[in-house]
Amino acid sequence: MNDLIFLGIESSCDDTAAAIVTGEGRILSSVVSSQTDLHEDFGGVVPEIAARAHAERLDRAVEQALTEAGTKLRELSGVAVTAGPGLIGGVMAGVMCAKGIAAGAGLPLVGVNHLAGHALTPRLTDGVDFPYLMLLVSGGHCQFLRVDGAQDFTRLGGTIDDAPGEAFDKLAKLLALPQPGGPSVEAEAALGDPDRFDLPRPLLDRPGCDMSFSGLKTAALRLRDRLIAEQGGLHQRDRRDLCAAFQTAMAEILAEKARRALAEARVPLLAVAGGVAANGAIRAALEAVATEARARFLAPPLRLCTDNGAMIAWAGIERFRLGHSDGMDLAARPRWPL
Ligand code: KG4
Ligand code: ZN
Repeated sequence: MNDLIFLGIESSCDDTAAAIVTGEGRILSSVVSSQTDLHEDFGGVVPEIAARAHAERLDRAVEQALTEAGTKLRELSGVAVTAGPGLIGGVMAGVMCAKGIAAGAGLPLVGVNHLAGHALTPRLTDGVDFPYLMLLVSGGHCQFLRVDGAQDFTRLGGTIDDAPGEAFDKLAKLLALPQPGGPSVEAEAALGDPDRFDLPRPLLDRPGCDMSFSGLKTAALRLRDRLIAEQGGLHQRDRRDLCAAFQTAMAEILAEKARRALAEARVPLLAVAGGVAANGAIRAALEAVATEARARFLAPPLRLCTDNGAMIAWAGIERFRLGHSDGMDLAARPRWPL
C-alpha cells in the first residue's frame, strides 16, 4: 500500500489547507492559506468570517496542491478531510469540498480527526514507531496523548481551561503587542528578566497531567493593572519582564506535566506539535525533561506542527490502511474527542 497518494484537506480553524502525500510519507505539495489578516482586528478567529473564507478558498487550495504536486485527480487513491473537532462552519466547508471531489472522481473518502492529524505527524516526518507520547500545544488545544496506534490514543491529561497559545495571545493583547501573541511575547521575553515578577503555576502541586492556564493569565492582568496604577503607565522594561515571567511559568508548567506524563506513559519518545511548540524556551524545557527520562525528543518542522493539509492526508492514509473509509453521510463534528 506504499503506492497510495492522498489529497488532504484542512479547514477547522483559520488556515485553509490542501496537500498531496504518498504512502511512503513524501509530501508532494502542501498549500496553506492563512486567514490571520481577516481576523486581526477582532482579536481572535471569527467563526462566520472563517467559514466564508474557507468556502471561497478551498477549491483554489486543492487545485494548487494538485498542480504543485504534478498529480491528476485520477491518480489519487483517496481524499482525506478534517471532519472535526473545530469551528463547525469551516469543517463543513472542508467536508463538502472533499465529498464533491470524492464523488466526482470516484475516490474513497476518509474523515480524519484533526487531533489525530497532529498526533500522527511524527510518523509522517520521521517514521517513528508506536508507542510514543505527544504533547499537542496550540492556540486551541493542550493535551498529552499516548499514541499506541493510528486509531489508538489515550489522553493522559490536558488543560482544564485555556490553551497556552490562547493565553499567549491574550497576554499580547493586554500588553498591546502584535498578534499572533506567541512570537511577540517570545521576542519581548528574550529581552526581559524572568525573575522580577513571580507568576503562579496553577495545578502544579496536584498529581496528574491536567493543566490550568487561566489563573496565569489573570495574574498577568492584575500585575499589569497594578503597574499602570502605580506608575501611570507601562514601561518597555515592565512589558519585557512580564513576558519573560509569563513564558518561564508556561515552560515550567508544561515541563513538569511532561515529566509526569513520560513517567506514566513509559515510552521512548516525546513529540510536540502545535504552534506553541515553536517557542524556544518551551522546546528547551521539554527537551531537557525528555533527556532526563532517557526519551528521545522530537519537534517536527514548524510548518508541519501548525495546521496543514499534509498531516490530514497522512492520517487519512493511516486510517485507510487499517481498512477504514467513510460514506457520503460523513458528518462534520464541532466536538470529537480522540
Ligand atoms: O497550531 P496553531 O498554528 O493553530 C492552532 O491553534 O490550531 O497555533 C497557533 C498558536 C497561537 O496562539 C500562537 O500565539 C501560538 O500558537 N504560537 C506561539 C509561538 N508561535 C506561535 N506561542 C508561543 N511562542 C511562540 N513562538
Ligand atoms: Zn491544529
